[in-house]
Amino acid sequence: MRRRWQRVVPAFLAVAVFALPLAALMPAKARADEPLGEQLYKKNDCVTCHAIDHQIVGPSYQDVAKKYAGQKGAVDMLVKAVKDGHVGTWGMVPMPPHPTMSDADIKTIVEWILSLK
Ligand code: HEC
Repeated sequence: MRRRWQRVVPAFLAVAVFALPLAALMPAKARADEPLGEQLYKKNDCVTCHAIDHQIVGPSYQDVAKKYAGQKGAVDMLVKAVKDGHVGTWGMVPMPPHPTMSDADIKTIVEWILSLK
């Protein structure tokens, strides 16, 4: 049987090689009249892999908002998923960890995401 990392590591490398340069090609401008969570989403790497209304590498934020609508503890759980990285809920492509982002910034983005349903 293949071990989990043998599937996860190549997927991670594929994301690193193909998706991350896209961020450099498509700089999204944050505007001051947008919600703070949306501005932070655009200033960080989230925008490389996530769109509001369609899947890119990761799930669309509207799908995330629908999945966790009304769930207790969803904010804390999702902050941890973004901070530590996550795989397996939406498929076998992993989200990389974000150890240098503050919990407060991640929480602001997550609360904005959950408002998009
Ligand atoms: C390299 C691509 C990539 C980047 C960059 C990225 N994500 Fe993700 N994200 C993913 C993938 C893939 C998943 C699905 C993970 C899974 O199936 O558990 C995901 C899942 C999520 C989820 C849902 C997690 C769950 O448990 O259901 C949230 C919320 C999220 N991302 C927010 C963010 C935020 C906020 C940022 C920026 C700070 C970010 N992502 C950056 C790829 C990415």
